[in-house]
Amino acid sequence: MIDLQRVRADTPGVEHVAHFNNAGAALPPRQVHDAVVDHLQREAEIGGYEAAHERSERWERTYDALAQLIGAQRDEIAVVENATRAWDMAFYSFRFREGDRILTGHAEYASNWIALKQVADRTGASIEVVPDDEHGQFDVAALEELLDEHVKLVSLVHVPTQSGLVNPAAEVGRVTRTAGVPLLLDACQSAGQLPLDVDALGCDILSGTGRKFLRGPRGTGFLYVRRDLIEELEPPLLDMRAAEWQHDGGYTIRGDARRFENWETYVAGKIALGVAADYALELGLDQIWERDQALAERLRSGLDESTGITVLDQGATRGAIVTFQVAGRRAADVRTALAAEHVNVSVTEAESARLDLDGRGIDELVRASVHYFNTEQEVDRLVELVAA
Ligand SMILES: Cc1ncc(COP(=O)(O)O)c(C=O)c1O
Repeated sequence: MIDLQRVRADTPGVEHVAHFNNAGAALPPRQVHDAVVDHLQREAEIGGYEAAHERSERWERTYDALAQLIGAQRDEIAVVENATRAWDMAFYSFRFREGDRILTGHAEYASNWIALKQVADRTGASIEVVPDDEHGQFDVAALEELLDEHVKLVSLVHVPTQSGLVNPAAEVGRVTRTAGVPLLLDACQSAGQLPLDVDALGCDILSGTGRKFLRGPRGTGFLYVRRDLIEELEPPLLDMRAAEWQHDGGYTIRGDARRFENWETYVAGKIALGVAADYALELGLDQIWERDQALAERLRSGLDESTGITVLDQGATRGAIVTFQVAGRRAADVRTALAAEHVNVSVTEAESARLDLDGRGIDELVRASVHYFNTEQEVDRLVELVAA
């Protein structure tokens, strides 16, 4: 069980707001905040390079913590600026050609889609969208039908930005592994919310961000690439972190996942990302997941029972993201009214996830994303305020 009193005592933000925008950026624990401030302070005292050198074991720890979080090895982890850059560094490393097929799903995120489309337009590869099943989630049986030797990549969003569902990633991974097709898993909204194990999920590449359910600092993210795939993927951008300049004018690209990083980096953020991962590991991802699901279900059923509110979540398994509309009210007005009561929710517009939201005829929705440090009282108050 999560010790609610302790995690709230660790979270100064709960004194100010009832925060239901954890899918946007969660309230960080003070340990994360302190790690950033402390390192910035040290940089100011002795110099940025010197502070990084002095505290190298702190930022090196981040690779271990992230590896532990997802069941990987430290040399399979790259620490970058955000989930999009992580995803892009892997995706743009593939050499697609005319006739290649890339499969994605309705949950695909805007930035990923834009990259898919750019590459498809440039190379002549095609993008095909795997249909949803009866739960409104990625249809694994349909994927099986679509796979052939021309499919070069499957892109799956684990937990979409715009709906409560958790896609059946492990089932997808079983199918892609059997077919020998790499699975690129966007774990941006699942990292820190639920247990992840890259072997159990069967994914070859995984991208994540710091600031959402992991409660890390903004401007941090990470990439996992399975060891045997790393050397096959030549990053689209190389610098002197990723590669080494040789006497003959050539260069050699490093053999671990740090080939996807860049030389200059946000060291304070990198340290604090590791602190955030350690914080989640210490609480236990099973415990976090259990509480997040329970709070989200409480919120969904409260909203469902109120007149004029339509809960829009789909999926056989639902997580911490709760999406809804209020009859006769714009989503932004709902957000503004709640903000006046010191309650944070966010608005998702169709352009974040057109394959899903356009298909369902939804132009915007309110997104309330719970996390384990929220209380049942906060959830019930949110229901009352929305209903009112
Ligand atoms: C499903 C999903 N993927 C990717 C991203 C992009 O993450 P970042 O903003 O860290 O690049 C988001 C952000 O909201 C997301 O919800």
